[in-house]
Amino acid sequence: MFHFTYYTPTKVVFGKGAEEQVGALVKEQGCKKVLIHYGGGSVVRSGLLNRVKAALDREGVAYAELGGVVPNPRLSLVYQGIELSKKEKVDFILAVGGGSVIDSAKAIAYGVAEEADVWELYDHTRQAQACLPVGTVLTIAAAGSEMSNSSVITKDEGGVKRGYNNDICRARFAVMNPELTLTLPPYQTASGCTDILMHTMERYFTPNGTMELTDCLAEGLMRTVMRNAQILHADPGNYDARAEIMWAGSLSHNGLTGCGSDGGDWASHGLEHEIGGMFDVTHGAGLAAVWGSWARYVYQACLDRFVKFAVNVMGVKADGAPEETARKGIEAMEDFYRSIDMPTCFSELGISPTQEQMETMAKMCIVAGGGKKGVAKVLLEADCLKIYEMANH
Ligand code: NZQ
Ligand code: ZN
Repeated sequence: MFHFTYYTPTKVVFGKGAEEQVGALVKEQGCKKVLIHYGGGSVVRSGLLNRVKAALDREGVAYAELGGVVPNPRLSLVYQGIELSKKEKVDFILAVGGGSVIDSAKAIAYGVAEEADVWELYDHTRQAQACLPVGTVLTIAAAGSEMSNSSVITKDEGGVKRGYNNDICRARFAVMNPELTLTLPPYQTASGCTDILMHTMERYFTPNGTMELTDCLAEGLMRTVMRNAQILHADPGNYDARAEIMWAGSLSHNGLTGCGSDGGDWASHGLEHEIGGMFDVTHGAGLAAVWGSWARYVYQACLDRFVKFAVNVMGVKADGAPEETARKGIEAMEDFYRSIDMPTCFSELGISPTQEQMETMAKMCIVAGGGKKGVAKVLLEADCLKIYEMANH
């Protein structure tokens, strides 16, 4: 087992009606005025925004509000949020929405706490020293941002999508009512399930280390997510399946399923972030579209883990050569993606990048990775290009 630090300071309030507690939760943090941050309107239509405001009113917590966060959240709105928060003298940022809203809220929280340009964090030219407290009311199980130390922001000019990780942005609380996810379109539910799976798969496909307990947790999480994703595909109104998926989304990205690994692979995420930046696709769907090509390109360099995945997660019988078992596991995973209407290549994702665009994405992926990407097999620019080419059908 490799050394690790496991830090999960987020208080989780889970279950039906949990959003009623949001005012008390903010007050518990000693804060007086919040910026309520939300997306393109789903929380207005569902009535959640009004319920959140009422919960704040009941506790005498004042608020300003800023909606309009789009998927693949933009830096321009982050700047607006920073300006508004300073003008309104807010001392807490409350995200009501999904990963995009939470990430935008984290970026605003960094930007309010320090004078320097917040993009420098995402450009990795400095580290944050301070961050306003952030809380979340989650409406989609997917990104895991409600318990992660990450946020991912897209710079409007050039579609540059970059992540920044720092423990100081971890949410003080996460309000998780699975009922809030009942209004999700099926594509978002399935994309969310894919992202949840991928956060554990990225941590699972590492060539080093023994981590028996972590592997068991990871394998159990992956099997649970696949089973419940299929239940939701057939029966989107199933509360219990919504609840399993929501809790899995947080545990998959709060570090638990990576304890003792050497950090995880994260190449699929790196490859997807370039696709998301250039083509504005849904993150989980982008991951599904590129994963099979990545897996076929790297599996021989990380064969033991691919065999273990095939047998313990995908239920493949290990009665052939290890390479064959590994390949069957990859095929079974792609079959699963198809079963929930997720894409397994670029045309199914709805994009057809030119050779030049794939070369640009490969170059930017490696720049963002600091010169290389991945550990299952270390990828350079030419490898990333090859994977994009394999997915481009
Ligand atoms: O904007 P609204 O109207 O709310 O609609 C959203 C949006 O269109 C809709 N939605 C959310 N909850 C809903 C709902 N519609 C109906 N009912 C509800 N209850 O769903 C759409 C997608 O929302 P978004 O927040 O973009 O989804 P997700 O949580 O998948 O977040 C994706 C973003 O998170 C980043 C991704 O790259 C992407 O930018 N990630 C963040 C991570 C992190 N901070 O730890 C890790 C991830 O790997 C990921 O990179
Ligand atoms: Zn993700």
